[in-house]
Amino acid sequence: MDAYRIVGGKSLEGVIEIGGAKNAALPILCATLVEKGTYILKNVPALKDIKTLSKVLEKLGLQVENLDKNTLKVVNTGLDSVEATYDLVKTMRASFTVMGPIIAHEKKAKVSLPGGCAIGARPVDLHLKGFEALGCEIQIHHGYVEANAKELKGARIVLDFPSVGATENIVMAAVKAKGTTVLENAAIEPEVEDLCNFLVSMGAKITGIGTSKITIEGVEKLTPGEYTIIPDRIEAGTYLVLSILSKGKVKVRGAIREHLDSFLAKLEEMGCEIKEDKDLMWIETAIENLKPVRVKTLPHPGFPTDLQAQMMTLMTLVGGTSEIKETIFENRFMHVPELNRMGAKIKTDGNSAWIEGVKQFDSAEVMASDLRAGASLVIAALFAEGETIVTRIYHIDRGYEILEDKLIKLGAHIERIKVEGV
Ligand code: EPZ
Repeated sequence: MDAYRIVGGKSLEGVIEIGGAKNAALPILCATLVEKGTYILKNVPALKDIKTLSKVLEKLGLQVENLDKNTLKVVNTGLDSVEATYDLVKTMRASFTVMGPIIAHEKKAKVSLPGGCAIGARPVDLHLKGFEALGCEIQIHHGYVEANAKELKGARIVLDFPSVGATENIVMAAVKAKGTTVLENAAIEPEVEDLCNFLVSMGAKITGIGTSKITIEGVEKLTPGEYTIIPDRIEAGTYLVLSILSKGKVKVRGAIREHLDSFLAKLEEMGCEIKEDKDLMWIETAIENLKPVRVKTLPHPGFPTDLQAQMMTLMTLVGGTSEIKETIFENRFMHVPELNRMGAKIKTDGNSAWIEGVKQFDSAEVMASDLRAGASLVIAALFAEGETIVTRIYHIDRGYEILEDKLIKLGAHIERIKVEGV
């Protein structure tokens, strides 16, 4: 099993190029199932999750090839199957968003219920409620969801919760339904917007993009083409924490500032001064001048849950007691005991965490539990005295493009090693 060996305390300097957004690329890849034709997708991050989803699409009958590291060509000449099997879906639950586009293309689908994961049970009830509203008969047996519709008809759907995946799956199922679909309380994350913009670029009729009320006029046919994925705001936020800890010597290139509004607002509340110059962003405010704050994760435009762990690493080095309330996932504090092994002083009670500032991280052997927790441990290790081993870094490979390459370029002492038994 791969692990990182990190020797902390090196001074880091340089520019990190932000890649394409994983959580936009994944639903956009799924959307190539909706219509026959050839798609060219640019700025696709080279991640394990993208490879996994490409395999799912190939199993369904599509051809997927890399024209270069970050450009995918997808050819859809029709589906060989409407079934996404457990062996594939269990490796990456985001592949459940193949269901909506398969339904749009074939009016039926059979997709394995995605497993839960470390951060939560991850139910899909809101996805299924949307499919039923569009005319699908839903059956669940043997761990699979089967959807069958004589005809897909537009409907008014109100989501109990602005679920990102449910919004994406329902929009993709509705683009060719007869009539109008109105989706209320829709998720408004930039990645959802990017998916809608991709569908519109193919001729879909979607209005209210970027708002919580999305209206979709069904169309007969879409016309595939080229599309460029937005930059990854979560990757950018992760590296901005690195910028602060490197006293601004690490700069981030290619982030879209408004995608990070709530995160940057919280950093400014701590006392950070956000510097920008053309496409560069960095923070050189000394960490000893930062104040403790309270963070509550919320659906966009609130503070993103995917930056919660990275914020906790930063808070650990800020004097005073900071607080985090995690409202999106029921079990997203697995990085806490690992950070505490590295000398942090964090207490949790339910979905609340209190972080008491300490001077320095202490190196230790720690374990990644999900991709964002893994990133928060790597950041801590880069600024800990001594050698830290981070195990189970397959979690990190899912969401960060060859993380060690980007960090070595900054002067970090990090190497990928093999460890047994973890
Ligand atoms: C997406 O997951 C992202 N994944 C997650 O990023 C991100 O943390 C999450 O949105 C929230 O922003 C991808 O886009 C591939 P949700 P998703 O449906 O769609 C509950 C990462 O680190 N819910 O908005 O699964 C659910 O249990 C990953 O890149 C239902 O109850 O998120 C959770 O508590 C981690 N029923 C909450 O909503 C449903 O039918 C948010 O889930 C669907 C969701």
